[in-house]
Amino acid sequence: MKYKVTRRAVLKHAGLALAAAPVLGFGKAAFAADPIVIKFSHVVSPDAPKGKSALLFKELAEKYTDGKVTVEVYPNSSLYKDKEELEALQLGSVQLLAPSISKFGPLGVKEFDVFDLPFLMSDDVRARQMMSSPMMGELNAKLEDKGVEPLAYWDNGTHVYTANVPLIAPDDFRGLKMRIQGSKVLDAVARQLGAIPQIIAFGELYQALQTGVADGEDNVPSNIWTQKLYDVQKYLTVSHHGRLTYSLITNKKFWDSLPADVRPGLDRAVKESTDFFDDTAAKDNVDALEKIKASGKVQVHVLTDEEKKAWIEKLMPVHAEMQSRFGKDFIDRIYKASGFVPPQS
Ligand code: LMR
Repeated sequence: MKYKVTRRAVLKHAGLALAAAPVLGFGKAAFAADPIVIKFSHVVSPDAPKGKSALLFKELAEKYTDGKVTVEVYPNSSLYKDKEELEALQLGSVQLLAPSISKFGPLGVKEFDVFDLPFLMSDDVRARQMMSSPMMGELNAKLEDKGVEPLAYWDNGTHVYTANVPLIAPDDFRGLKMRIQGSKVLDAVARQLGAIPQIIAFGELYQALQTGVADGEDNVPSNIWTQKLYDVQKYLTVSHHGRLTYSLITNKKFWDSLPADVRPGLDRAVKESTDFFDDTAAKDNVDALEKIKASGKVQVHVLTDEEKKAWIEKLMPVHAEMQSRFGKDFIDRIYKASGFVPPQS
């Protein structure tokens, strides 16, 4: 039926059109802003604890914000490598990262290197006590001064060493090229063992071990398993000498500029993916060590108490050496906050 279009009719139909827009697929969306895009870059594989937690964060953030936020996850250094990702975050080219806090040196916040002091963070309870202590407020403020907002800390457990020679006594490291993450303390640890420290991006680690650019490295079993490092390393020593702690970080300006109606959903997604991470990491690292053993490709040695004593004796001087870098007072406060008691020599 043809009808005459009057102004009133136009207005009526416009009203109808507006009312009908959802049915017609225009909906509030037609008039709502595009979703806010959060790019989440990381360097591990999607099936590592951090990879799984990033995907869960995506799912929860999109659900709890009713789709007002979209999260794009870029695993395996597919968007940025280790060092690049921190620069990209400060520039606002990426909105979310979860790097190891051993890599914060380039941000100009050297204090986070302190957590790499040998055996400081070996005990799970002490490590959690440290990361939830008020002293973290002081360190978080230093990150915020650099435009980085720490949203949570993810505990990926303790390190083991791998190499193509058995690492039982401290002297077994002598002359080896050992891959380290960027921290100055990890550099000092390698040198104290008589090894040659090599900073190599995580995404290049497999190849560096395969080609002999590096002879060995330390990491958590779940990274060794998911990156198949057991294919290019013959020996693994369970030493628990260090810890892999991530910080879930965002660009402070970006986070502060988020509309009030999406923040609660994102905060909830942060909380729930953090709880998920800590549970998953604890389980995955135990499972990964069993799978590495079962592969038959790597000889696994757990340090005896006697052997560990020799490592502690060899490595404790790094604590004293680092007093010049952090100041004795700062290190004493870290000991107090974590409950760490330096062994009497
Ligand atoms: C490493 O560089 O060994 C780790 O920090 C990688 C990671 O993010 O787990």
